[in-house]
Amino acid sequence: MKNNAATPRTEITDMFGIRYPIICAPMFLVSTVSMVVSASEAGGMGTFPALNFRPAEKFLQAIKDIKAQTDKPFGINIIVQKSNKYQHKQIEYALEEKVPLLITSLGSPKETIRLAHQVGVKVFCDVVGLEHAQKVADLGADGLIAVSCGAGGHAGDISPFALIPLLKDKLNLPVIAAGSIVDGRGMAAAFSLGASAVYMGTRFIASREAEVSQEYKRAILKATCEDIVNTDRVDGFPGNFIRTPSLEKVGVAPGFLEMVLGRSKRIHRWISLSRAARALLVNPKRKASYKNVFSAGQGVGRIDKILSIAEIMQETVEQYFEIKSNLP
Ligand SMILES: Cc1cc2nc3c(=O)[nH]c(=O)nc-3n(C[C@H](O)[C@H](O)[C@H](O)COP(=O)(O)O)c2cc1C
Repeated sequence: MKNNAATPRTEITDMFGIRYPIICAPMFLVSTVSMVVSASEAGGMGTFPALNFRPAEKFLQAIKDIKAQTDKPFGINIIVQKSNKYQHKQIEYALEEKVPLLITSLGSPKETIRLAHQVGVKVFCDVVGLEHAQKVADLGADGLIAVSCGAGGHAGDISPFALIPLLKDKLNLPVIAAGSIVDGRGMAAAFSLGASAVYMGTRFIASREAEVSQEYKRAILKATCEDIVNTDRVDGFPGNFIRTPSLEKVGVAPGFLEMVLGRSKRIHRWISLSRAARALLVNPKRKASYKNVFSAGQGVGRIDKILSIAEIMQETVEQYFEIKSNLP
């Protein structure tokens, strides 16, 4: 592989002083200190969900461990909604440690943005549509993660072809494209649509550094985009998962009572957010978690080898330049 000296320069590479506009996306139970360090050292940016380290003291230690191994920027994803009882401590520690990027998901990022901006930390917010994006833009978000349909983890339901240009044109904030991007083709498409970086999750699960089970890695190498199922069975929010025997056992459709009650938008939200409601409505024999089912985006079909994180980034950028120079 050539070590291409050229790198795509974008708003995001300039904002964070990174070489590649590639973010190794935060992944529950997948992202580790060594993945974050490898991604940031490779020239992109590593991130992790704060909840991967509990209680908050372990989270603080993870930040210190990363900082001891790299002086490059990295990011942390924080769920800013009351289901995350550690959120205040997580924000406090991340800001104390001046983590360069906070990524908020699910709730209102108002307080996070206010506190982060006092110490010069950037806040990007996960969004799946214009309404929430407009709210976070009004609150002063520094950028948006456009989570489109086909993304691993909690996915949106809008095509990136519609979502990214809409967000870029209406709000004029830096947009990071998330969903099914696994190579330079995806990067070229994301940039054409108005994004200035790519947020790749699934691709990095099939990396040497990812410490997931061999079964998970094999499932990613084997799956095609048609094996990805969108379901809210796992944690109450629509997410994408590989159809495996474990997922089949859980079932992907809601139970009768849940289906009937969930017709009301308010009740549906209550079911999603309340553990008690889920305990009541979801048959315990059908309970799933990120431990026994495998989340992945629809880009899986194009992943056929395990590489190091640095190789994935280099290959993506090389392919991006090749595609760009061959565009009609
Ligand atoms: C196993 C897995 C776990 C995830 N966990 C989180 C998470 O905790 N927080 C978050 O903001 N996004 C999470 N995501 C979503 C990713 O950050 C990112 O948006 C997504 O992986 C992009 O789509 P792709 O997987 O098709 O590249 C997760 C994704 C996967 C595959």
